[in-house]
Amino acid sequence: MNPKHIAIIPDGNGRWAKQRGESRISGHIRGTAVVKDTIIQAKQLGIPILTFYAFSDENWKRPQDEIQGLMMLLKEYLISERATLVREKIQLRALGEISKLPPFVLEELQKTIEMTSSFNQMILNFAISYGGRSEIVRAAKLLAKACMAGDVKPDDISEKSFQKHLYTADLPDPDLLIRTSGEMRISNFLLWQMSYTEIYAPEVLWPDFNTNEFLKALEVFRLRKRRFGLTDEQYES
Ligand code: IPE
Ligand code: IPE
Ligand code: MG
Repeated sequence: MNPKHIAIIPDGNGRWAKQRGESRISGHIRGTAVVKDTIIQAKQLGIPILTFYAFSDENWKRPQDEIQGLMMLLKEYLISERATLVREKIQLRALGEISKLPPFVLEELQKTIEMTSSFNQMILNFAISYGGRSEIVRAAKLLAKACMAGDVKPDDISEKSFQKHLYTADLPDPDLLIRTSGEMRISNFLLWQMSYTEIYAPEVLWPDFNTNEFLKALEVFRLRKRRFGLTDEQYES
């Protein structure tokens, strides 16, 4: 079976550029083109939910010119890909502290989210200014406020009700995480949601990720045995 929800950490843009003696931003430019192709691929393969880690909480600490370049690219992406998202009936959502984004990006992001909000062919999440820990703290604050207001009793808080306060409230957890560039870490991505996600970390750098690599990831996923804490025998029956 194909995964219903794929999360991707598109890592390795900087190393790809360095290998070519180019600036880091040229790696991000190429990486953005690969994001576009991957979205179309996922749609054609019938993947219902795709989540990209576009910019982490920690990425705000990168050099200012790189942040500026990434923000410009994001803005250009949102403007140039709007028509594709509409044509393909893809709903764009943002996960993260988007109020931290510069207004020129936030405006285009909100416009694209609004324009695509009624579509249901695929959900495309961009995690931008996103951190898994800050998402969990945010949910805890929302619940604490609901308790203070008398709408929720502390003893009634459950995993299910907690999950409803995450950015991904109405979405299933990712079945598969693809992190390119061979790094074996989560880097503060979807900490709550990835408790049972299958992790695949191919060596390929994100700018070189292509259809073949995508199909390989799906094949690896198909061969995985997911047990969710049960024994093989239980899970097979
Ligand atoms: C991932 O590529 C893109 C973002 C973080 C926005 P990197 O920029 O992290 O590339 P490397 O890891 O330095 O090669
Ligand atoms: C994770 O990659 C964030 C994104 C791809 C947006 P990083 O390159 O920032 O992660 P670390 O620093 O190697 O863990
Ligand atoms: Mg990186």
